[in-house]
Amino acid sequence: MTEIKGKLAIVTGAASGIGRGTALELARRGARLAISDLDRAGLAETAKRIEAIGAPVTTYLLDVADRDAVYAFAQEIETTHGGADIVVNNAGVAQIARVDELTYEDFEWVMNIDFWGMVYGTKAFLPQMQAKGAGHIVNVSSVFGIISVPTQAAYNSAKFAIRGFTEALRHEMKGTQIKVSCVHPGGIKTNIVRNARFLQSTQATAREDAASGFDKLAMTTPEKAGRVIVNGIAKNKPRILIGIDAKIIDWMQRLMPVSYGRIMFRGEGSPLTGQADTGETAQ
Ligand SMILES: NC(=O)c1ccc[n+]([C@@H]2O[C@H](COP(=O)([O-])OP(=O)(O)OC[C@H]3O[C@@H](n4cnc5c(N)ncnc54)[C@H](O)[C@@H]3O)[C@@H](O)[C@H]2O)c1
Repeated sequence: MTEIKGKLAIVTGAASGIGRGTALELARRGARLAISDLDRAGLAETAKRIEAIGAPVTTYLLDVADRDAVYAFAQEIETTHGGADIVVNNAGVAQIARVDELTYEDFEWVMNIDFWGMVYGTKAFLPQMQAKGAGHIVNVSSVFGIISVPTQAAYNSAKFAIRGFTEALRHEMKGTQIKVSCVHPGGIKTNIVRNARFLQSTQATAREDAASGFDKLAMTTPEKAGRVIVNGIAKNKPRILIGIDAKIIDWMQRLMPVSYGRIMFRGEGSPLTGQADTGETAQ
């Protein structure tokens, strides 16, 4: 069991969605919170809700894609709080475009935040945990780190890479008191699609159509996602699947590792969004 009560928990991307849900659940279980995001107003709202629960909280404006800033953040946590006990690398963005349309700029934007942000957050805080002899690192991948879908090559690349990195770290930490979890949410009703980069980002209707299609299909609330993640942390689960959709996709990949696409993408549109191929969304 990972003890939550009294521990210092870091959550990135805590201004919205799964990050906010996880931070609030950690607060309810008695953790002290240090939360970060790029979104100042959203972060302040999360902090207000944590304070209402009665848990201590500090906020940090942080771009997880900025390696120096992440290391400075970790240093500040060490100086002011004596180091982190739980780190949830959650901040993430999505990109929707086919490979032949995908620009390197957009691809790098996704990799820098989703993949490198998670690597920086892990490597900056790991020495603090090694010095204490205990800790828990939680990296948020996706069901799209288990299967790949059209228009999600950049996001799939980042989320598969998160899974690869996190599982390697878990093997390395075997026999220590540093626990490692990889989270694979299914569809969670958050702002991820509204905030995504689209190929034609000026087409507000494409974005709104994709976002409302996603809202209809996303089965799980961010609050529920937060509860599942914190239960997984408490139970030291190496792999945390969120939602029945994530469990079905996981099984589908095991049963049909090559041909799952024949069932999921039949041409009339994606079962993930109910839309035609060009309008699929990220999970
Ligand atoms: N919503 C889903 O269905 C779903 C499914 C699987 C995985 N995920 C993953 O869950 C994580 C959280 O996403 P969400 O659905 O809550 O989305 P969200 O858009 O509601 O929240 C993401 C948060 O990350 C922050 N963020 C973005 N770029 C940042 C940066 N460079 N530095 C710091 N913060 C930054 C945003 O400001 C936002 O507050 C992401 O890693 C996402 O890929 C989401």
